[in-house]
Amino acid sequence: MSYFQERNGELFVEDLSLAAVAERFGTPAYVYSRAAFTQHYLAYAEALGSHPGMVCYAIKSNSNLAILNLLARLGAGFDIVSGGELERVLRAGGEPSRIVFSGVGKSRSEIARALEVGIFCFNVESEAELEVLSQVAVEHNTVAHVSLRVNPDVDANTHPYISTGLKENKFGIDIERAPEVYLRAKSLPGLEIKGLDCHIGSQLTQLTPFLDALDRLLLLIDQLAEKGITISHLDLGGGLGVTYRNETPPEVSVYMAAIKEKLGDRPLSLLFEPGRSISANAGVLLTEVMYLKPTEHKNFAVIDAAMNDNIRPALYQAWQDIRPVKARDGEKKVWDLVGPICETGDFLGKDRELAIEPGDLLAIMSAGAYGFSMSSNYNTRGRAAEIVVDGDTAWLARERETIDDMLRGEHLLPG
Ligand code: LLP
Repeated sequence: MSYFQERNGELFVEDLSLAAVAERFGTPAYVYSRAAFTQHYLAYAEALGSHPGMVCYAIKSNSNLAILNLLARLGAGFDIVSGGELERVLRAGGEPSRIVFSGVGKSRSEIARALEVGIFCFNVESEAELEVLSQVAVEHNTVAHVSLRVNPDVDANTHPYISTGLKENKFGIDIERAPEVYLRAKSLPGLEIKGLDCHIGSQLTQLTPFLDALDRLLLLIDQLAEKGITISHLDLGGGLGVTYRNETPPEVSVYMAAIKEKLGDRPLSLLFEPGRSISANAGVLLTEVMYLKPTEHKNFAVIDAAMNDNIRPALYQAWQDIRPVKARDGEKKVWDLVGPICETGDFLGKDRELAIEPGDLLAIMSAGAYGFSMSSNYNTRGRAAEIVVDGDTAWLARERETIDDMLRGEHLLPG
């Protein structure tokens, strides 16, 4: 169910009207539903059930501390890709022993810090990284738990920028070379082999690519067993796609049942790194219409949210629904919703049929994932506030950025 519903012509988040949120906190603002985050996380945890394993929320999709803390309290693990994300998890009360560290470019200092706090596993993306990881572990008199991220050469059928499992992508180790690389890992003093990992892409709305990848991983696990290498966990990477418009991704329970069936009675624990399917439909970007600019060719509505707040439409041609917060009578027209930034690509939606006037509030839907977390200060625009709603109560989870916040750390030349 959606926690963003219309009641008597007004859009609500849980039991609070979005108009009330805008009145109190201003716009643009990201507004999240606590219940939606909870429900989406529990869908994974419950589908995993008693099978050994972990649901490691991919914090890159939405890394607000309040959200991480909420998920930590529900028992989530975390998938991180930087030292910064590691510190976020720790400050939010996440358990180091439930963290997996992904990404192609982990620095020595990031690796050292992750070893120091005792993370669960490093998802290693290259042979060069394997060598460095072993060296850093030896220097710190410890052993790093590793999983190799393999590239199973499966087409995820998603946008090319978020497709990662093909041979031409920068991610992972070619599955053909994996046995050799595992043997190397086994010989290195600072490493202990634990798992096998893959992530073939994001916003996948069909099961087939996941299951094809799994078949290839299981074959590899058998090959490795013959070489005396035991894999104890399988990490299947990011989660399912979501409905932005009319996509119909499978239910998490169906996805998980299909995986468990393929595993049969192999003694493998399962890790998942879902981001979008937990956060996307748990948040909206609330914005106000500033100016209407009808022209001969196009009707532009200038809104106070821009590509610095949500870059997805500009970067991936992503479509996100845009709904009025209060339905108004009057003639609907077709509008391009554009932001104040000096770029033609600064739009949040095109050709949307809406009845709007300046001062009206709009909600950009499905904005909880890769929205705020990809936002920037382009055009020296402060980043939006983030609000978490629980029932009829709103909590300021991140303050709107001020000019001082943005200019902190910049220095004039001495003379
Ligand atoms: N694990 C790894 C190693 C990943 O690279 C990603 C996403 C995930 C997990 C989480 O995938 P998810 O469950 O969210 O599909 N900014 C793009 C999406 C980039 C995805 C990057 N990696 C967007 O806004 O569509």
